[in-house]
Amino acid sequence: MVLRTLASLGQATHDGIGRVSELAIGQVAHFVGARLGSPVPVALHVLVRVSATAPGAILGAITWILADIMRVLAPGSRVSVPVLRSIRPRWHQLYYLLAAFDVMTVVLSLSLSHEIRGIFARSIAVNQTWGQRLADYSDLGELAQAVDAPGNDVFDTLDVEGESARAQTALRIFNERLAGLQADIQAHESEVDPPVFEDLEQDFGELTVAMNEMTAESDLIFSYFANNQPDQAGRRMATMDRKYANVHRALNAVRQNVADIERQNLDDQQATAESLSKFEYLLAGFILLMVSAATIYGHNMARRVEADARERERHLAELGDAEARTRSIVDTAADSIVIFDGWGMIESTNASTARMFAWDSASLLGRNISLLLPAENGSDESHSGVDALMAASTLAGHQSEAVGRRQDGTMFPLDVVVSELRLGGRRMFTAIIRDITERKRAEVERNTLYQTLAERERTLKDLVRKLFLTQEEERRRVAYEVHDGLAQLTAAAQQHLEAFAGRVRPRSSEARKELAEARELAQQTVREARRVIAGLRPTALDDFGLAAAIRLELEGLRGEGWEVEYAEELGARRLPLETETALFRVAQEALRNVRKHAGTRRVELCLLYRSHGVRLEVRDWGRGFQHVGRNGREGPGERMGIPGMQERVALLGGKCSVYSRRGAGTRVVVEVPVTTPLGTMQGAVA
Ligand SMILES: Nc1ncnc2c1ncn2[C@@H]1O[C@H](COP(=O)(O)OP(=O)(O)OP(=O)(O)O)[C@@H](O)[C@H]1O
Ligand SMILES: [Mg+2]
Repeated sequence: MVLRTLASLGQATHDGIGRVSELAIGQVAHFVGARLGSPVPVALHVLVRVSATAPGAILGAITWILADIMRVLAPGSRVSVPVLRSIRPRWHQLYYLLAAFDVMTVVLSLSLSHEIRGIFARSIAVNQTWGQRLADYSDLGELAQAVDAPGNDVFDTLDVEGESARAQTALRIFNERLAGLQADIQAHESEVDPPVFEDLEQDFGELTVAMNEMTAESDLIFSYFANNQPDQAGRRMATMDRKYANVHRALNAVRQNVADIERQNLDDQQATAESLSKFEYLLAGFILLMVSAATIYGHNMARRVEADARERERHLAELGDAEARTRSIVDTAADSIVIFDGWGMIESTNASTARMFAWDSASLLGRNISLLLPAENGSDESHSGVDALMAASTLAGHQSEAVGRRQDGTMFPLDVVVSELRLGGRRMFTAIIRDITERKRAEVERNTLYQTLAERERTLKDLVRKLFLTQEEERRRVAYEVHDGLAQLTAAAQQHLEAFAGRVRPRSSEARKELAEARELAQQTVREARRVIAGLRPTALDDFGLAAAIRLELEGLRGEGWEVEYAEELGARRLPLETETALFRVAQEALRNVRKHAGTRRVELCLLYRSHGVRLEVRDWGRGFQHVGRNGREGPGERMGIPGMQERVALLGGKCSVYSRRGAGTRVVVEVPVTTPLGTMQGAVA
C-alpha cells in the first residue's frame, strides 16, 4: 500500500515537478537568451531535454528517495519490493543525478533572482520615465496658463500689441511642448494598451480643440481692444475663462490617462514579479528536495560506509583465520614449501623446509633459492637454476626432478612443482619440494627386482623351449627306436608267421585256431607299433611337412566316421621345424579336446598362409564351454592342454586364442609369425 502510494507519488512528482521545471527552464532559457545570446539558452535547452528524456531516472531516484524517507521515518517497517529494486539506480549514478539536480536548482534560483531583479530595475526605469512625463504634463498646464494670461492682462495694461505678442509666443511654446509630448507617446505606443492609447489620442485632440477655442477668444478680445471697443472685449472675458477651463479639463484628462498608464505599468510589473515569485515556491521545493536527497544520500552513504567497514573487519578477521589455517597446513605439510620472488630471493618457508634442508628457517629468508636447489653446475649464485624453476612454473602442475643441497653440503634427490602467483602486482613463485630419497631407493630396488624377474622369466622360457624340444627329440628318438627295432621285429615276426601259415596247415582244428589267433595278434602288434610310432612322432611331419601330417591326422578321424573339413593353403611349403612341430601339437591337442569334451564329430580345420605368418584354426560345433583359465583346483598335469598350446605358440612369438560359448562350439585360433624364408618339399604329398 505504502509502496503503491510512493510509486504514484513518484509518478506525480515526475509529472508535476518534471513538467514545471521543464517549463521554468524553458522560460529562463528564453529570457536569458534574449539578453545573453545563444550559447546559454542552448545549454538550458539541453537541460530541458535531459529532464524530459530521463523521466525514468528522475522517477526512480525520487521514488527511491521517498521510499528511503519512509524507511528513515519508520525504521521498523521493511520496504523492499522487487519493482523498486529494479529501478533503483546505482550509487554513483544517483550521485551524478543529485549533482545535476543541484546544479539545475542553483541555476534556476540564480536565473529567477536575476529575472526578478531585472523586473524591478525595469519597473523603476519605466516609473521614472512616466513620472517625468507626468511632470511634463503639469508644465503643460503652466504653459496653457501663460497662453491664457495676456487675454486677461490686456484689461490692465491696455497694451494690445505687447499682450497679443506674448500670447502668440506662449501659444507657440505650448504647441511645441504638446507636439513633443504627443510624439513621445506615439513613439512608446507599444508600452500602452491600445484602448488607453486611443483615449490619450482623443484627449490630445480635445486639448488642441480647447486650446484653439481659447486662443480664438483671446484674439477676439485683442481685436476689440484694437478697435477701441473695451466693452465688447469685457463681455468676452467670461467666455474666454470658460474656454480656459475647457483647456484645463482636457489637460487633466490627458494627465489622468498618463497617470493611468503609469499605474497600469506598475501593476503589470508587479503581476510579472508576483507570477515569478511563484517559482520561488517551486525552487524552495527543489531546494528542500535537494537538501532531503543530500541528507538521505549522506545517511545512506554513512550506513553503507559503516556496513562496508564492518564487512571489511569481518573479511579481515576471516582472512586472519584463513591465514592461520593455511599457515598451520603449510607448517604441518610433509613437503617443503618455499615462496620466492623473480630474483629467486626466499620470502617465506615452512617448517618442513628447515627439516628437509637442515637449515634454520629464519636464516633462509632473503637468501637465494639456488642455495637449496643449486643449478646443475652447482653454483650458489647462478641464476640459471632460478630461471629453470621459473620456466617450469609456466607449465601448470609440471613436476620435475632436481637435486637439493642441505646446509652440510650433502645432496639428495627432489621432486619440485613451481607455480607462479601475483601478489600486489609482484611476480612471485611457490616451490613445493618433496624429498624423494626413499622413492629413488625403492625405485632402484624395484628395478633390480624387475630385472631379476625378467631374467628368471627368460630362463624359464628357455627351459620350457628346451623341454618341448627335448620332449620332441625324445619322442622322435623313441618313435624311430620303436620303428627301427620293435616295429621291424614285429613286422618280421608277422611276415614269418604268415609264411609259415601259408606253408603249413595244422591238422587239428584247435591248432588252426591257435595259428589264426597268433596271426591276428601279430597283425595287431604291427598295427599297434605303427600307432605308437604315429602318436609319438608322425614321420609324415618330418618327411612331408605340417599340411600333410595334419591331413593324415584328419584322415584317421574320417576313418572313424568323423565329419571333417580341411582347408589349407600351405601346400608343399615347409615352415621352420620348431613352428611345424608346435602347430602340429596344437592341432593334435585341439582335436583331442574335441574328441574328449565337445560331444560332436564334426570338425573344421584351416591352415592358411599369410605374408607375415601362418594361421591355424580348429573349429567344432560341440557343446562349447566358458573359458575361465586354470583356477588352481586342477591336479598335477591336469588341464594342461590349452595352457600348453598357448605356451608353445608364445615361444614362437605368436598368439593362441580360444573362443567358446556354451552350446555354440569352440574355435581355437593360432597366429604365428614366420620370419625365416620358407622352404619347399620336393615331391611332397599334396
Ligand atoms: N572343444 C572343446 N569343447 C568343449 N569343451 C572344451 C573343448 N576344449 C576344451 N574344453 C574344456 O576346457 C577344459 C580345458 O581343456 P584342456 O585341454 O586345457 O584340459 P583337458 O583337456 O581337460 O586336460 P588335458 O588336455 O590336460 O588332458 C576342458 O576340461 C574342457 O572342459
Ligand atoms: Mg585337453
